[in-house]
Amino acid sequence: TINGVEFAVADLALAEAGRTQIRLAEHEMPGLMATRREYAAAQPLKGARIAGSLHMTVQTAVLIETLVELGAQVRWVSCNIFSTQDEAAAAVVVGPDGTPDRPQGTSVFAWKGETPEEYWWCTDKLFAFPDGPPTSILDDGGDATLLVHKGVEFEKAGAVPNPGEEDPEDYRLLLRTLAESLRADGKRFTRIAEEIRGVTEETTAGVNRLYRFARDGELLFPAINVNDSVTKSKFDNKYGIRHSLVDGLNRATDVMLGGKIAVVCGYGDVGKGAAESLRGQGARVVVTEVDPICALQAAMDGLEVLRLDDVIERGDIFVTTTGNCDIIMAADMLKMKHNAVVANVGHFDNEIDMAGLAKVPGVRKNEIKPQVHEWTFSDGHAILVLSEGRLMNLGNATGHPSFVMSNSFTNQTIAQIEVFTKPGSYAKDVYTLPKHLDEKVARLHLDALGVRLTELTKKQAEYIGVDVGGPYKLDHYRY
Ligand code: NAI
Repeated sequence: TINGVEFAVADLALAEAGRTQIRLAEHEMPGLMATRREYAAAQPLKGARIAGSLHMTVQTAVLIETLVELGAQVRWVSCNIFSTQDEAAAAVVVGPDGTPDRPQGTSVFAWKGETPEEYWWCTDKLFAFPDGPPTSILDDGGDATLLVHKGVEFEKAGAVPNPGEEDPEDYRLLLRTLAESLRADGKRFTRIAEEIRGVTEETTAGVNRLYRFARDGELLFPAINVNDSVTKSKFDNKYGIRHSLVDGLNRATDVMLGGKIAVVCGYGDVGKGAAESLRGQGARVVVTEVDPICALQAAMDGLEVLRLDDVIERGDIFVTTTGNCDIIMAADMLKMKHNAVVANVGHFDNEIDMAGLAKVPGVRKNEIKPQVHEWTFSDGHAILVLSEGRLMNLGNATGHPSFVMSNSFTNQTIAQIEVFTKPGSYAKDVYTLPKHLDEKVARLHLDALGVRLTELTKKQAEYIGVDVGGPYKLDHYRY
């Protein structure tokens, strides 16, 4: 703690470098900046304590400072051990008007290259506001929400979590963090859950967890699914990855993509963006899918759709985008070409069987540079694994660019205002934002691109059965 600001970041001296990047990002984030102007006087988040767990990047810094400008007190962690940009974290702690000696900003607990143990230590810190429990969570992937739910579950049962060897590493570490917390205070998470008015969730993986909690009647507070705002998943997941996947591949390996065979596992929103970016580089893209609709889409988009086994020996680059587990197993990696690149952009690190890879007899791991590892098998052939199987567009590059994140984060800000200012109007269920707000987010980004939107005439509006000012589509429309 310095000057009353509690934090754990790599180096506050990086703040100035972070601030210049934030300044440039603000220009590219018209939605967030317009939201600041719109709510400057009303201060709708005054009194809110927002616990945020989302990649601590430059773009996230603009989100955090938007929430603060709207009146909120904020604490922040990253939702991935490799995704923090240390200069952004430092700048947020120092704040726009502070100095490294006298920080005046926001409490951040995040640095690039946390160990998994440190990751859960940070996540636990997220909830310790000096003046009471958080009023809301802003989550990406659902780890902060999961910690609260698991905490309440153990507190109710009066049991201390006891991680077993068979539990996956991440879950074992979560349980260990909980055990320590419960020993210190056996009702902590119950109090936190009672205070929380809602969570706003950023990504597909976290949203899936929320719907499962809701289905099983276990959701402890209302949730807004930000991911499924059209201006989030059809933009960030797709156009964001179209930018940052190739960025990550280039920074990691600089291997020529043109002419290579790139295998994209999963053709959902992220897979579509990944395939497009690789094709844009002249790679020959092969897709794997389990869903016949997405498989047909890939084929109609002109891509080959095969099983992983069909291309395992021919592929030069493998990218997982499924949000599912066990996509590329150790036995698959053994069959790959020399120096094939293996990368994941799905939220969690269980798409690629890293544990199995480490157990292959005779395998050797050599660090080419941070987040780029050469794994050499006993026959002498090797593969390159990026970001140890974790989100590589954030581990090897800096994630999605500001403009697309402005769409996602404007939705986040609107969702935070909803849950904080309307307590009681949402049940313990998962909601999406109404379409008129989705359209508003898009509208805020048109001017910057010189888009001139056509206006409906009254007659036309009546003819298609909408208002002149929108919404322009019914809720079931898929874009
Ligand atoms: P999605 O549900 O639209 O797409 C996933 C696709 O994978 C589906 O079409 C599904 O049928 C397919 N799939 C599932 N199991 C498969 C298997 N065994 N083999 C082949 N395909 C399989 O989800 P979305 O939005 O594309 O997100 C995917 C993942 O990426 C999630 O974990 C999400 O949280 C994450 N994400 C990552 C971002 C990043 O910056 N790296 C940005 C946005 C989302």
